[in-house]
Amino acid sequence: MPGELADPYHVWISEIMLQQTTVRAVIPYYQRFLERFPTIASLANAAVDDVLVLWAGLGYYSRARNLHRCAQALVARGGFPRDVEGLKTLPGIGAYTASAIAAIAFGVPVVPVDGNVERVTARVFAIETPLPGARKVLAERAVTLNHGRPAQTRPSDFAQALFDLGASICAPRNPACVLCPWQEGCAARKAGIQALLPRRTPK
Ligand code: ADE
Repeated sequence: MPGELADPYHVWISEIMLQQTTVRAVIPYYQRFLERFPTIASLANAAVDDVLVLWAGLGYYSRARNLHRCAQALVARGGFPRDVEGLKTLPGIGAYTASAIAAIAFGVPVVPVDGNVERVTARVFAIETPLPGARKVLAERAVTLNHGRPAQTRPSDFAQALFDLGASICAPRNPACVLCPWQEGCAARKAGIQALLPRRTPK
């Protein structure tokens, strides 16, 4: 629901699953996982093999092992830290996941920057520096997407709207600019280079 905050356990599980996997593919895994492990404690107390069975098909099994370890760390410390720095100290939680949990579960005014958000940012500001070198500058500019104001009144909705914009309208190929709520302010579109951004350093 707009403006509402979500359960940090649910956000954490979904964000870990959504790394390298599409929303459509994740949904049945997410539902099965939460049915089997409805609480952090139930996950922490499970055998790691039971966690891996539910993960089968999602790939990147280190994510499932870290999830299990992290659940145990969360039980030991009595729940989630509520800020980005604290979240980053947990097993398997990097800068992106920490920001996503902070924004979506705790309403902290940060912008989680994944590949979709990098693409939207590179286009809105016509940043031509190639990835991966541009990562830092893209993260700094992403924070200003909200009309240059770093603090937002609805960080969770803003983050999720950005994910959805990047996954649908601001697609890697053939972006649907005529449907985009930011078409007027998009520097890449103005220059006609939206489909070329973000640039990448050739391997
Ligand atoms: N991709 C990663 N996190 C997401 C989220 N919370 N909503 C939609 N797509 C996502």
